[in-house]
Amino acid sequence: QEVEWTLEMAEKAGYPHFMLKEIHEQPRAIRDAIHGNAGIIRSVAEEIAKYDRVFIVAMGTSYHAGLVAKYLFQRLAKKVPIVEDASEFRYEFEELVDGNTLVIAITQSGETADTLAAMKLARRKGAKVLAIVNVVGSMATRIADFTLYTHAGPEIGVAATKTYTTQLTVLTMLAIELARVLGTADQGYLDELEAELSAVPELVERALRHEASLRELAEELKDKRDFFYIGRGISVPTALEGALKLKEISYIHAEGLSAGELKHGPLALLEDGVPVVAIAPSGKTFDKIVSNIEESRARGAFIISIGDREELGRISDVFVQMPEMDELLTPIVYIVPLQILAYHLSVLRGNDPDKPRNLAKSVTVE
Ligand code: G6P
Repeated sequence: QEVEWTLEMAEKAGYPHFMLKEIHEQPRAIRDAIHGNAGIIRSVAEEIAKYDRVFIVAMGTSYHAGLVAKYLFQRLAKKVPIVEDASEFRYEFEELVDGNTLVIAITQSGETADTLAAMKLARRKGAKVLAIVNVVGSMATRIADFTLYTHAGPEIGVAATKTYTTQLTVLTMLAIELARVLGTADQGYLDELEAELSAVPELVERALRHEASLRELAEELKDKRDFFYIGRGISVPTALEGALKLKEISYIHAEGLSAGELKHGPLALLEDGVPVVAIAPSGKTFDKIVSNIEESRARGAFIISIGDREELGRISDVFVQMPEMDELLTPIVYIVPLQILAYHLSVLRGNDPDKPRNLAKSVTVE
C-alpha cells in the first residue's frame, strides 16, 4: 500500500500533530536550553543582582513561567519579583518603574503586543529590560537591553509546551546563579540543584512514559464538563498551566487554583465525578495537599494525583507517579503529564489541538 507524504507530514516526523511532537521534544529542548545558556547566565545574574526592584512581565503560558520564577527567586535568592501580566503592568504599575528597576519579559514569540508595550514603557522610564525569548531576532530581542534564548526550536502548535519547560529551565538557572552571586543559599546545595537540573531531561523522559495510561484516562474523562487543578507553593503555577492547556485545546472548562483556596468557593462546585487534578510533589506542603485531596474526595470528586509518594495511590482514583526530585525542579517535569492529558482529551473530542478555535500562536494586537 502506498502512503502519500506531504511536507506537513514530514515536518511532524511521524506524529499526528505538532503538539505531540513538541511534547516529546522536551528532553532535547531542555538540554539545549541548559547548554545554550551555561556560559552567559553568570553575567546576567550579576546584572540582576544590582537592582532593588524586579518585575516579571508576560502573558499566557509565559506568565505562568513567571509565576514559577517568583517561587524560585524567593526560595533561592531571597528576592521576590513582582510578577504581573503585561497588560496589567502597562496600565497599573508604571509609577513603580525607574532607573533602579529591572524588568524581565518572558515571551516565546517575542511579538506579543502587551509584552512588547510593557518592555517599551519600562525602557522609557529608565529601567533595564531582560528578555527571555524563543524566536531568534524577534522584536522583543531588539527592544531588550539583553536577551536569554530558550533554544526550544520552532513551536508550531498554538498551545505552548516545549517553550514553557525551556523557559522554566532558564529561569531555574537564573535563580541558582543569582543565589550564588548574592550568597543567599548554601553553595553545596546550589551545586547539587544545578547537577539535578542537568538530569531533568531524563526525568522528563520518564514522565513521557505515562502516555498510554494518560490516553486511557482521557478516554474515561472526555465527556466531563469541568476540571479543577490544585497545587500549593511552587505547584500553584503548574495547576494554572495544566488548566490553561485543557481550556485552550479541549474547550473543557478548567480552573487552576491554590489548594488553600478550595474552601473559599470552588468546593461548592465539587460533586460526584468532577475531576480534581492534584499536583502533589514531596515538599513543604505535601501534607496540606493530602488534606485537600481528602476533602475533595469526600465530596465525590474523581481524584487524579501527580506526585512521587506511593501513599497518594491510596487516596486517589488515578495516581500518576513521578520520579523523585528537588521540589524546585518539579514544575518542569510535572507539567508533562498535564500536557499529554490535555492533548488526548482534545483529540478524543474531535478537535485539532494544533489550531484551537479563536486562539493565535502570538497575539500581536491588543
Ligand atoms: C498566545 C499563545 C500562548 C502564549 C501567549 C503568550 O496566547 O496562544 O500559547 O503563551 O500568547 O505568547 P508569548 O509568545 O509572548 O510567550
